[in-house]
Amino acid sequence: MKTAVTELFGCKYPVLLSGMTGISTPELVGAVNNAGGLGILATADLTPDQTREAVKKVRKITDKPFGANVPLLIPGSAEKAQILMQEKVDIINYTLGSGEWLIEAVHKYGGIAVATVTNEKHALSAKKYGVDALIITGHEAAAHGGLVTSMVLIPSIVDVAGIPVIAAGGFADGRGLAAAMALGADGVAMGTRFMNTKESPAHSNMKQMSNKKSVHDTLYSDRIDGLPCRAIDSSGARNMIKDRLYLFKALLNSRLVARTYGFPWIKALAGILFSGYSNAKQLARMSNAYKAIKLAIDKGEYENGVFLMGQVTGLIHNTPSVAEVMESIIKEALASQKMLTEKLQ
Ligand SMILES: Cc1cc2nc3c(=O)[nH]c(=O)nc-3n(C[C@H](O)[C@H](O)[C@H](O)COP(=O)(O)O)c2cc1C
Repeated sequence: MKTAVTELFGCKYPVLLSGMTGISTPELVGAVNNAGGLGILATADLTPDQTREAVKKVRKITDKPFGANVPLLIPGSAEKAQILMQEKVDIINYTLGSGEWLIEAVHKYGGIAVATVTNEKHALSAKKYGVDALIITGHEAAAHGGLVTSMVLIPSIVDVAGIPVIAAGGFADGRGLAAAMALGADGVAMGTRFMNTKESPAHSNMKQMSNKKSVHDTLYSDRIDGLPCRAIDSSGARNMIKDRLYLFKALLNSRLVARTYGFPWIKALAGILFSGYSNAKQLARMSNAYKAIKLAIDKGEYENGVFLMGQVTGLIHNTPSVAEVMESIIKEALASQKMLTEKLQ
């Protein structure tokens, strides 16, 4: 397959592994790369040292180009971005913030900068800053999809972007890949689908849950991590949404966040307390969500965990290897193409 995405990233298929905290590990990135796609490493829950180690680990598994995801809103992300750039990671995928400074620095060493956005305003400003490609995330997506569904959002941005567009949110199979292409995208990024593979580090409870849940079994709320966010409708997610003590709990949970990001607790606490009321509320929810998301991924804990999954989980009923997923996506996309040719003549 040859699209603007395969040409830009040097991969065989226009299928990306989304950068997912706790899921998109060096092993999963390597597996997707070796199956012909493009893996994007998650760095949000890594310390700076772990970030460097993870990059080195990916390079031991695959010699193909790969990406790394940096959510700019998360404390410590600028430092990690610097490490990724020192390591000359081929593709830097930033999200949740303005990446003007990052794009310039990535281009300096010959890297590719990709912005993840959920609306036209942010797509156009990323383009103005010189980003090389856009990941456009629709409402269906796990975690932070926009308000508009992929079906409408993707063509609306393709119409104005003028740079390669990768569709994300609601894509799990070859029909999805063909549909994204029909909407004008040059590739797809899949999160939930690759979370539910043999190589994914997610707890088996999370994978089994993904196999059983229907397209109706997720919820979307800005009271999970403070941003509009999609997760499985579970008691853990509902408790977080209802929680009136979230500010108080964040004081305790910020200890875990500080340990994870490798900076003193007092700094995390001060960050929450002195960032202004609305930022403090946002950071507080993020601290609490971080713990609950980890409980889901690492322990598969239904009662207190928050299971980030997209609506597309309702189309997923098995836990194959990454290579099997990729093979079936490509086969099915080609079959869809044939079917379309017949239907549209
Ligand atoms: C467990 C989990 C963790 C995620 N963490 C991140 C993250 O750290 N950064 C990011 O940009 N997106 C993150 N996402 C969102 C994905 O990158 C992607 O946008 C989404 O999964 C696409 O929708 P889909 O699940 O329908 O394929 C996460 C998704 C999941 C399921």
